[in-house]
Amino acid sequence: MATPRRKVVVARNLGPDVMSLLNDHPELEVIAWPHENKPCDRKWLLENIPGAYGVLVMYFDKVDVELLEAAGSSLRAVSTFSVGYEHINVPELVKRGIKLGYTPDVLTDSMADMSIMLALMAGRNVKQTHEIWPAFVWSPFGFCGPQISANPVNPKPTAGFIGFGRIAHATLARLIPFGFARCLYTGNPATPPNAAADAKVAEKYGVKEVRRTDLSELARESDVVFALAPGGPSTFHIIDEAFLKQMKKTAVLVNTGRGTLIDSDALAKALQEGWLYGAGLDVVEGEPGITQDHPLVKSPRCIILPHVGSATTETRLQMGTLAANNLINGVLGTPMPVELNTSH
Ligand code: DGY
Repeated sequence: MATPRRKVVVARNLGPDVMSLLNDHPELEVIAWPHENKPCDRKWLLENIPGAYGVLVMYFDKVDVELLEAAGSSLRAVSTFSVGYEHINVPELVKRGIKLGYTPDVLTDSMADMSIMLALMAGRNVKQTHEIWPAFVWSPFGFCGPQISANPVNPKPTAGFIGFGRIAHATLARLIPFGFARCLYTGNPATPPNAAADAKVAEKYGVKEVRRTDLSELARESDVVFALAPGGPSTFHIIDEAFLKQMKKTAVLVNTGRGTLIDSDALAKALQEGWLYGAGLDVVEGEPGITQDHPLVKSPRCIILPHVGSATTETRLQMGTLAANNLINGVLGTPMPVELNTSH
């Protein structure tokens, strides 16, 4: 007698290449939200999850106690199409012996590319100049802003990273040809500073100094601040009015991490009053429900993109493939290609 197929629920249509990995799998019964461009309805997810062995979600689909209870004791694997996992109640998964797969590494380069792009766009005032074109009469100092790369006034620019993981490292590597000489970062308060490891990173990328510091020095010293920490309560509004007030007036702020890292009202005020030069955001608190009257959307010095940091065809295909394989292996009880290590 054939073994019954195991139900998996997929909270988005992931396109033909990825869906075929799942749909063509003889041991799986795939129940998928049919739309590619419409988020999965929570009600649909709750109705379809009972009895599932695995679930594949996007970065905003909450995997909380309600969903886990609805799934029942069959659930073995959660797979998220993201590197971030703050939408998932990890302690509850651990308690229930459910594995969590995620998609680090494959998006590092596209995210770092995007971080650099936003820094340049914010520093060169692309929002205002793009909007005014062609009604602009060229003038020698029209639309001049601070130069981010090394220059006679600032020969050794400093990069500041809030969160210093893989994407931050890849971003730092991209800043070296721009002449960045110093890197300050803030880290998880639970882990002690490690000067020897910092020296190794400095040597690897060829910068004079890499040093962990506090938020205040990072704000004061950095020419570009990259927010790349995970979201969640411990980093909520880590960039607040006090931080922004300490930034250089010529500095730019980039957020490719999570919207909740920045207090949006404080940033809008800071841009309005010139506490910093500009901001480039791929993520905004409250997304995707942001409307045209949002103070940051209205701010001429704030570039906002709709959370597309990892959106290259190559990266998204790798993320999808990894998420699908994490789900398949987790459900079948073989090691996931990339499982979150929950032992610390
Ligand atoms: C992630 O991977 O966490 C991104 O924010 C979603 O693309």
